[in-house]
Amino acid sequence: MYFKLILIWLIHDIIGLSESGLEQKSTTHWEQQFAQPYFDNTTRREVTSTVGQTAHLQCRVRNLGDRAVSWIRKRDLHILTVGILTYTNDQRFQSLHTDGSDEWTLKITSPQTRDSGIYECQVSTEPKICQGFKLNVVVSKAKIIGNAELFIRSGSDINLTCIVLQTPDPPSFIYWYRGGNVINYSQRGGISVVTEKQTRTSRLLISRASSQDSGNYTCSPSSSDAASVVVHVLQREQPAAMQHGSNPSPSISLTAAATKWTINHIFLLLFQYIMYKR
Ligand SMILES: *[C@@H]1O[C@H](CO)[C@@H](O)[C@H](O)[C@H]1NC(C)=O
Ligand SMILES: *[C@@H]1O[C@H](CO)[C@@H](O)[C@H](O)[C@H]1NC(C)=O
Ligand SMILES: *[C@@H]1O[C@H](CO)[C@@H](O)[C@H](O)[C@H]1NC(C)=O
Ligand SMILES: *[C@@H]1O[C@H](CO)[C@@H](O)[C@H](O)[C@H]1NC(C)=O
Repeated sequence: MYFKLILIWLIHDIIGLSESGLEQKSTTHWEQQFAQPYFDNTTRREVTSTVGQTAHLQCRVRNLGDRAVSWIRKRDLHILTVGILTYTNDQRFQSLHTDGSDEWTLKITSPQTRDSGIYECQVSTEPKICQGFKLNVVVSKAKIIGNAELFIRSGSDINLTCIVLQTPDPPSFIYWYRGGNVINYSQRGGISVVTEKQTRTSRLLISRASSQDSGNYTCSPSSSDAASVVVHVLQREQPAAMQHGSNPSPSISLTAAATKWTINHIFLLLFQYIMYKR
């Protein structure tokens, strides 16, 4: 049977039937062996990732036969991978392929903004065929709505909303810190954190704040730069001393508040000085 097919193929070739004539027939496995490789153009050709978040460029080649698939960085024509082997010293580049599949995926671990650019999936036919992929690596940032400093009266709520900007995928988690520590729910009641992955927001609500809740609050999503806000919880004795976010208007109680601040800052500086000396 096999010989017969080869014979048919030879005759076919000798007679010089056009390629289109061949294609019109139903494709058999045997024909695939001799057909030229081509790219399946349905994979994504433009990929956006955030700094540090593993990126995949997916190249799908049909009828590869015994040819090799390589990944080339267009910027400097650096060969990154050949087949499943990494060819560069930069081990962040890896070729993923399962035996028998048509996929040759370039995996870029921990991408940086400088990795943005065009990558080519190349097949070693004569002449070579290439397909370009565009990778964008963006810096994702968190933002806490409102001013960088917040003044809250003792007994009212601290209500902070953090949004993750410039991220193709929702963050897998968002942590809140006060100072250097993750906010501890069990230490004090009345703390709630509501994180919505789809809207990329997280809301921290601390009810009935006291001066002990003052501090530097940081919202830190996975693979994004963090955002901070300094919250000052003012004693009840200073009633005119402002609400959330609004700038303080001059008043006597403000002077008291300001004095407290200065003292706090002196302590902070002193503390930092001591820490530094250690
Ligand atoms: C896929 O895209 C390339 C250009 O990038 C084109 O030359 C080729 O014909 C396309 N293949 C198919 C099957 O559409
Ligand atoms: C917190 O603030 C947001 C707007 O920034 C508001 O929609 C929400 O209702 C507030 N929550 C509470 C409990 O005050
Ligand atoms: C939170 O605070 C409680 C009570 O002070 C303590 O037992 C627990 O270890 C703390 N958890 C973390 C994660 O710091
Ligand atoms: C608040 O904490 C963050 C993260 O630790 C730090 O980068 C930032 O400088 C701090 N802000 C202030 C005003 O101390």
